[in-house]
Amino acid sequence: MKVAKTIKEVRSHVKAARSKGEKIGLVPTMGALHIGHTSLIERAVNDCDYVVVSIFVNPTQFDPNEDFEKYPRPIEADLKICEEHSVDLVFNPLPKEMYPAENFTWVNVEKLTEPLCGQFRPGHFRGVTTVCAKLFNIILPDVAYFGQKDAQQAIVIKRMVADLNMPLKIVVCPTVRETNGLAVSSRNQYLSQRQRKDATLIYKALQKCEALIKDGITDTTKIIGEMRRVLQQEPSIEIEYISIVNAESLRDLEQPKGRVLAAIAAKIGSTRLIDNILIDTCEK
Ligand code: PAJ
Repeated sequence: MKVAKTIKEVRSHVKAARSKGEKIGLVPTMGALHIGHTSLIERAVNDCDYVVVSIFVNPTQFDPNEDFEKYPRPIEADLKICEEHSVDLVFNPLPKEMYPAENFTWVNVEKLTEPLCGQFRPGHFRGVTTVCAKLFNIILPDVAYFGQKDAQQAIVIKRMVADLNMPLKIVVCPTVRETNGLAVSSRNQYLSQRQRKDATLIYKALQKCEALIKDGITDTTKIIGEMRRVLQQEPSIEIEYISIVNAESLRDLEQPKGRVLAAIAAKIGSTRLIDNILIDTCEK
């Protein structure tokens, strides 16, 4: 496995692979790799001939009051995980390699970035789309892999790729969960044991939503009320949003119809967690 710190090195490794006709897969990450990330890597290794993992804690997607400085950066452990998963190349640039000067050019996907997390993290998606556009331009992958865990991010990236005619395919992989249902996240390590237990209510609330929809309840306000009740079992959970939206447009639904995305963001202590499920209702 090769490790590249510079854009020049990455381009030369990838160029060599491409000249052999190899299919290039990219898994963009911010490191602190866990089984959610490795599920994407395994899929990429399975589908592609040459797999690149980027590890870069992207400053432009963090608000000044967010956890950029304290975000975990266990690079040695991450490189070992990549090696064990047969990754061909890790791209681990310094911020000044990716942003050598003040950034004037931004990629901004409209509309889809307004609801859900967009309401609470201004500028976040602009940072994500900009860094992903840069990574796609640097690596020129045939396929890039994203997790359903960050449902809105995956939708926004897909739209950017479509709107800007970027020549790659986006594959979205299922959310990996702990046995208690908690979606695996790099931020879970901020949680105490007690908070981890409380956090399992997030998935329980999403399961409640699915059960109510499957039972034929069609009033979204009522469903959201029931989900809120599940979360309120634990007063330390501060709900940011509970949304039931169309899984493509992310528009609020008065009644759950078609492909529905149920999504929650909540704070436990100072840790912000998000989770979601996709529900296919029979009615189209
Ligand atoms: P990061 O949070 O490190 O996540 C990298 C990828 O792993 C994302 O596509 C995310 O959705 C996926 N992922 C995280 N937890 C997962 C889980 N439990 N199951 C399945 N997939 C999971 O998302 C980012 O980094 C950044 O915004 C990035 C796209 C790298 C741009 O900086």
